[in-house]
Amino acid sequence: MDTFVIEGGRRLDGTIRINGSKNAALPLMAAALLSDQPLTLRGVPDLADIRNMRRLLAELGVEIGDNDGGMRLHAVDESESHARYDIVRTMRASICALGPMLARRGAARVSMPGGCAIGDRPVDLHLRGLVALGAHIELEGGDIIAKAPGGRLKGDTIFLGGAFGSTVLGTANVMSAATLAEGTTVIESAACEPEIVDLARLLTAMGAQIEGAGSPRITIRGVESLGGADHTVIPDRIEAATYMCAAAITNGSLVLEDCPLDCLLAVTDRLEAAGVHVDPLEPGAPEADPMRRRVRVTAERVLRPIEVTTQPHPGFPTDVQAQLMALLCLADGNSVVTEKIFPERFLHVAELSRMGARLFRVGNTVVVSGVRTLKGAPVMASDLRASAGLVLAGLAAEGTTVVNRVYHLDRGYEKMEERLAAAGATITRVDDRAA
Ligand code: EPZ
Repeated sequence: MDTFVIEGGRRLDGTIRINGSKNAALPLMAAALLSDQPLTLRGVPDLADIRNMRRLLAELGVEIGDNDGGMRLHAVDESESHARYDIVRTMRASICALGPMLARRGAARVSMPGGCAIGDRPVDLHLRGLVALGAHIELEGGDIIAKAPGGRLKGDTIFLGGAFGSTVLGTANVMSAATLAEGTTVIESAACEPEIVDLARLLTAMGAQIEGAGSPRITIRGVESLGGADHTVIPDRIEAATYMCAAAITNGSLVLEDCPLDCLLAVTDRLEAAGVHVDPLEPGAPEADPMRRRVRVTAERVLRPIEVTTQPHPGFPTDVQAQLMALLCLADGNSVVTEKIFPERFLHVAELSRMGARLFRVGNTVVVSGVRTLKGAPVMASDLRASAGLVLAGLAAEGTTVVNRVYHLDRGYEKMEERLAAAGATITRVDDRAA
């Protein structure tokens, strides 16, 4: 199992180009199940979760190849509709296959995803949405067995809000399924995340009729069939936010290219409040794509404490909570971090404390009492973003930090150590079996 060994205290200075978004790419790939025509997706990152999705889709009859700078997905065999536990347990996003498969093949069997390190993560809203479209759903042997009576779903009005807001992958599932349903579907309390907008863009290019994606009400007029498309994945807003925090925590200066500034306003608002500056390098250029800006990230020498609460988009993303907390460990005063999406998502708290952070957790709130320095230590967290927070802390800490089990990081960050090292960090990947 690989580890990262980080010698902290090096200032980052360089340029990082933001990759395509993992969380956008996963449901985009699953959309290949909606058509017998090929899809080409460009800018798909090379990550463990993406490789798992490829494996799953291959089992479901999708031929996948890489050519001409894109990933080509073509559903050539529609006879298999079972997403097995073996794959689903490696990646919860396998649930994205449920809606498309049910809509196109009339039936789907998907192993029920289990809990994970950041909490219970139920799929009741996904199922509620598909039942509203007429699906019959049963649970058998740990599998969700879904059938569309008569082979086709029927449009309806669906409320998708839950106790913790809407659901991103649930909205993706129901919206995808509704594209092939008979009649009109209205999703109320839909997730507004940019990944949903990207999926709607792909589905529209395939021939779907969708209005309102990016707002809480999405209207879908079902069509008989969908065709192929060629689509470029949006840049990864969470990767961009992570590198913003990396620049700030090392008091460095990073230029981020292809930075999706347009969907990072809550992040830049909180970073600015803490004394981190994110400045576009082509200010006012009318032709600049707001999702692919070139920005410079710098920070004031003394960071200010702030309050932050995670919320559904356009609020502050839960996927950046751990990275921001690492940064606030070094602010001059007490910050308050409240987690409203996954109230148990605090695996990094105990590990940051081992590095000298002063953190006090009560329920879903952590008071971060800033310290002057963090101290290197061996650490580990079994969640992708928590691990990213620990790498950031390691970049700033005095001495050596060893981040264990970086396969969690590899699920969401492509070659993170190489990109940080190119910007001046002292970080190496070590296979701990070889050590
Ligand atoms: C997506 O997960 C992301 N994953 C997560 O990113 C992200 O943290 C999350 O959205 C929130 O932004 C992918 O896109 C692959 P939700 P998702 O359904 O869709 C509750 C990362 O680090 N809920 O929007 O599964 C749920 O428990 C990952 O990249 C229900 O109650 O999240 C949570 O409290 C981690 N019932 C809230 O809703 C349901 O049926 C939001 O979850 C579904 C969800």
